[in-house]
Amino acid sequence: MISDTSKRSSKGEIEDLIRARYSLIWVTSPEETRVEESLKKLCVEREMRLEVWSITEGFKVIANGQGTRDVKDPMKALDHVLRGEGRALYVLRDFHPFLKEPAVVRRLRDAATELRKTKKSLIVLSPLSKFPPELEKSISAIVDWDLPTRQEVEQAARKLLPNAPPATQQLVESDPTYMENVVEAALGLTLVEAENVFAKAMVRTHTFDLETILEEKKQIIRKSGLLEYYEHREEFSDVGGMDTLKDWLVKRRNAFSSRARDFGLPLPKGILLIGVPGTGKSLTAKAVGALWQMPLLRLDVGKIFAGLVGSSEENIRTVIKTAEAVAPAILWIDELEKGFSGTGSSGQTDGGTTSRVFGSFITWLQEKTTPVFVIATANNVHQLPPELLRKGRFDEIFFCDLPDREDRRSIIDIHIRKKKRDPGQFDMEKLIDATVDYSGAEIEQAVVAALYDAFDTGNDLSSDGLLHTLKEIVPLAITMREQIDTMREWARTRARLSSSRGRGTQQKPQGGWMAKYGATKGGLGDKAGENTGDDGERKLEL
Ligand SMILES: Nc1ncnc2c1ncn2[C@@H]1O[C@H](COP(=O)(O)OP(=O)(O)OP(=O)(O)O)[C@@H](O)[C@H]1O
Ligand SMILES: [Mg+2]
Repeated sequence: MISDTSKRSSKGEIEDLIRARYSLIWVTSPEETRVEESLKKLCVEREMRLEVWSITEGFKVIANGQGTRDVKDPMKALDHVLRGEGRALYVLRDFHPFLKEPAVVRRLRDAATELRKTKKSLIVLSPLSKFPPELEKSISAIVDWDLPTRQEVEQAARKLLPNAPPATQQLVESDPTYMENVVEAALGLTLVEAENVFAKAMVRTHTFDLETILEEKKQIIRKSGLLEYYEHREEFSDVGGMDTLKDWLVKRRNAFSSRARDFGLPLPKGILLIGVPGTGKSLTAKAVGALWQMPLLRLDVGKIFAGLVGSSEENIRTVIKTAEAVAPAILWIDELEKGFSGTGSSGQTDGGTTSRVFGSFITWLQEKTTPVFVIATANNVHQLPPELLRKGRFDEIFFCDLPDREDRRSIIDIHIRKKKRDPGQFDMEKLIDATVDYSGAEIEQAVVAALYDAFDTGNDLSSDGLLHTLKEIVPLAITMREQIDTMREWARTRARLSSSRGRGTQQKPQGGWMAKYGATKGGLGDKAGENTGDDGERKLEL
């Protein structure tokens, strides 16, 4: 199950759930105070009593009423909820440790059924969504609380303003884009993290120094262990060849602006780049960040399942939540097949976790309304679940083949220039002839090796030196001939070529790709969002 991906805020979502008489709601957030503040507002608006429970303090009424109730025992706390009168919302803080007790679980399940007949709802507020499977059917919804909005982050920054020297204060007043950039830099953090980052920048530089803020954000995002905030190191001009793919991307560089929305353009969802190793798929993903001037978050799919941090389901939600908070942003999923292979009918050894996580992911991919552009890269097409390749998931699937003559010309040119040499001094035609079936990565490797040789022998980088090192590299295309042909055949009908010229050397593989690799039909449904649908009297408030 995935959090709301539309523009509806978490507060709005809770309101809908309460009106729909969802009795037991699980809210996941590390930001207890922020969540409770929002719930308080909601309860004031809806004239509901809000009671918050913790093991140390028992119950405390914090909206529409007052008073405390000294019930620290979790079982008694649930009794208190059941006995409560009128319209009320109860929040249990950090209740998950008590769910190890079978009796508490039982009482909570009974409470969920009972409460449905009343005008009371119960929220379990926890930094984790960790509950025993018996409870799964009783929890009517899981809400992943949004990270702070731009307004909230701006408020946090402005709170610090009185501490700033007059020059900084003036800057904030006179240049509206200054604050916009500061806020942007801190998006994706919790409110406390944002406050800390601002404070640190202020102490260090007496301003909201963007570099300090971004550096801290990078650290914090990396600490989550799932995402990496990527620097714009690669320029778009570093990518050689692939004109079709590049045109597609250039055409969409303003596609996230409100001007594009007003014009009637849909929000681009994402692309999948598949193809031969070393042809620049990862490089393109990195370069799009610079082209579109958008933050690039790299997801390590393997880590979602590694079990080092959180549960897999929670991890994918964290990733989506962070990307949506940073949005407009690019979510780069490198080597997609490494995480999502085995979601089909075979190789399921994890009790369906991979399938569920994958289901959540594709549902989000298809339905998301936030400006998060997904670039997924893969080179093993037959490990990808077929559902992922269905229409509507990605805007386009591009196949990155080995570079043809012209593409090699530009790749050789790029790598010679990168070494601060003049490509005009090289015998380009010979080099192009010598690099048939070499990937961009192999061309780069040859340039680097030739540079070493030159340095060692006291010469400069030359065509001859390059031709020599090229001979020593056996391109993957030789050892992977069959796989590459199979991939080309696959791509012929399912993907667009990243380069307009293409190579057009498709041969029909024996028995066809589908037969060979047993691409599964139907494998897994979009199970995300499935509901439990048990009966019981409900009083909807419409
Ligand atoms: N089209 C290209 N233009 C310029 N350089 C390239 C190109 N393709 C590859 N390279 C060079 O090779 C390096 C490795 O390429 P990259 O990692 O992008 O390949 P990939 O397609 O992602 O491979 P894999 O499938 O193995 O992940 C790049 O950083 C770049 O230096
Ligand atoms: Mg790659």
